[in-house]
Amino acid sequence: MCGIFAYLNYLTPKTRLEILELLVNGLKRLEYRGYDSAGVAIDTPDGKDMALVKKNGKVKILEDEIASRRDELGANETVNIHVGIAHTRWATHGVPNVANSHPQRSDAGHSFVVVHNGIVTNYKEVKTFLEKQGHKFESDTDTEIIAKLIHHLYEKHPTYSFRELVEQVIQQLEGAFALCFKSKHFPGECVATRRGSPLLVGIKTKNRLETDHIPILYGKDGDNNHQEHRPHGRGELPTLPRSESTSEFQPLEDKEVEYFFASDASAVIEHTNRVIYFEDYDVAAVKDGVLSIHRLKRLTDDPHAREITTLKLQLQEIMKGSYSYFMQKEIFEQPESVVNTMRGRLNFEDGTITLGGIKEYIPEIKRCRRLMLIACGTSYHSAVATRQLLEELTELPVMVELASDFLDRTTPVFRDDVCFFISQSGETADTLMALRYCKLRGALIVGITNTVGSSICRESHCGVHVNAGPEIGVASTKAYTSQFISLVMFALVMSEDRISLRQRRHEIINGLKQLESQIKQVLKLDQKVLELAKELYNQKSLLIMGRGYNFATCLEGALKVKELTYMHSEGIMAGELKHGPLALIDDSMPVMMIVMRDPVYIKCMNALQQVTAREGRPIVICEEGDKETMSFTDRALEVPRTVDCLQGILTVIPMQLLSYHIAVLRGCNVDCPRNLAKSVTVE
Ligand code: M6R
Repeated sequence: MCGIFAYLNYLTPKTRLEILELLVNGLKRLEYRGYDSAGVAIDTPDGKDMALVKKNGKVKILEDEIASRRDELGANETVNIHVGIAHTRWATHGVPNVANSHPQRSDAGHSFVVVHNGIVTNYKEVKTFLEKQGHKFESDTDTEIIAKLIHHLYEKHPTYSFRELVEQVIQQLEGAFALCFKSKHFPGECVATRRGSPLLVGIKTKNRLETDHIPILYGKDGDNNHQEHRPHGRGELPTLPRSESTSEFQPLEDKEVEYFFASDASAVIEHTNRVIYFEDYDVAAVKDGVLSIHRLKRLTDDPHAREITTLKLQLQEIMKGSYSYFMQKEIFEQPESVVNTMRGRLNFEDGTITLGGIKEYIPEIKRCRRLMLIACGTSYHSAVATRQLLEELTELPVMVELASDFLDRTTPVFRDDVCFFISQSGETADTLMALRYCKLRGALIVGITNTVGSSICRESHCGVHVNAGPEIGVASTKAYTSQFISLVMFALVMSEDRISLRQRRHEIINGLKQLESQIKQVLKLDQKVLELAKELYNQKSLLIMGRGYNFATCLEGALKVKELTYMHSEGIMAGELKHGPLALIDDSMPVMMIVMRDPVYIKCMNALQQVTAREGRPIVICEEGDKETMSFTDRALEVPRTVDCLQGILTVIPMQLLSYHIAVLRGCNVDCPRNLAKSVTVE
């Protein structure tokens, strides 16, 4: 997904080279989000124009281009006040190429440049309007209309401030966006805004800030300011009321200050741990080194200020360390990450569980009509994995929904529903839209996320941080096992006063206690999994079968294989075998089967026999020492036994390792698979 990074230094001298390095480094930190081209904009050495450097492909290519143009870019000159903006683009409108990459400009003279994450859905309408006004377009992007529109408005209203111009622009836009603007006409100023896509600013001052919040300034005309005015194709834009601030505010004591605007904290953390997460409709402007946050409309529950958050994230937490890939590191971090998910929540001594973020809502949740678990991709699989246990321990109907399909169906939702939104990033557009849909209908919203400060966190009534730590690899691994455990803990909380479930709860809590060492044991299979990967990596397809508590592992394993290796793979419910998939089986079709000694063991054995009877040669994931199951295969991955409802945590790890090794053997880009992004902030 696109990544925004902008750097503003105010009275903090930097050479242009330092600024360019900072911008490129910021983009490197955002690389994991997925992208296909990158670009930067800085002032030209004479200060009268802007230099745009844009390249198709990796940030490294952009870096090399910058290095080759050092002299032209005035690399050694020092500037006291400067704004640079940078971007990694993930193509949505128009193919990946230099013209379509960002920053997008208003005109050849670079009056305004902009970087954008998201999609402007009414861009055609705005484009038609601008074309009729004589503007010529040079890209296929939706973003270019933003640069041209602000220029158009500037020419019409030359007395407007930079912030006011941006406010005028965003009132013309539909869709989702985070935007960061730079202008030749407003040197040393930067304006950023968001609606639906994440954006934050890191603040670095010499001395600690006197303040821990920035007051929000509302438009003079209050609600009247926030009208929707759209261009009509012909004629001029409607004149919108100006939105002068109600007051002037100097939030920072320090004169010397640096600001880092970014799509996420990983790009900022090495410079400062003091950040503000922007909310939809915030317009943040830096002028004369002073940051102000403005909103056109005051809603009833709007706060008076945005808090400055102190990030606890360490840079080394987001670095690869001794591992070859982030994904590999994240797979091997699981003994630790699952413990972090339970830390401070699960007391193994007395078997009590406290989920601080939802504690107060438990009585309300217990009274609900049903639980709905809504998510996409891997996060959806964590819901599939825990549904059975949730049904058992809560005795409530549990619906598990893919966010996109849930929205397509305009599913009925009621005030007494409790809706869980599960998301590693907390920014997935479909999940977020489903959340808003349910919130509007009065349901209780519970967020299960791994990203503090994300949109899903902020928009939920309550929630659980899965605490898996930063997940950089596009393929989700440790977030899955931590989401799984978070939902198990929720089920345990819901059943804490049920005497009839005491024994069952005790077994599960005991199982959770053993997980750390059992995961370590499963990870020892790595070499064996590599040998299997060598056998499989030239195949075209891989079927993964199982049922009951391990069906989610089949879906998740197949998703991992698909996204990482580009091989076809399918997770098959073993109970469906006779209804079609059995026709695929012969001696050459690669098959994996998960056969654990749980309540569906006999049924799984039945499926295994059917596969071997058709000359299938399945690789089996089974329980340690299960000779009976292993007698049907010459290739088995033995995992330790745990309580049935947690077994999926142990069976998914060999699948994570297998997809990882196949991807490496096939020469695929493990951390950034083609066409995919870490955080899918568009529908
Ligand atoms: O950030 P989220 O958990 O909301 O993301 C949802 C999916 O995009 C994500 O899980 C995706 O399926 C993973 N890349 C799969 O490994």
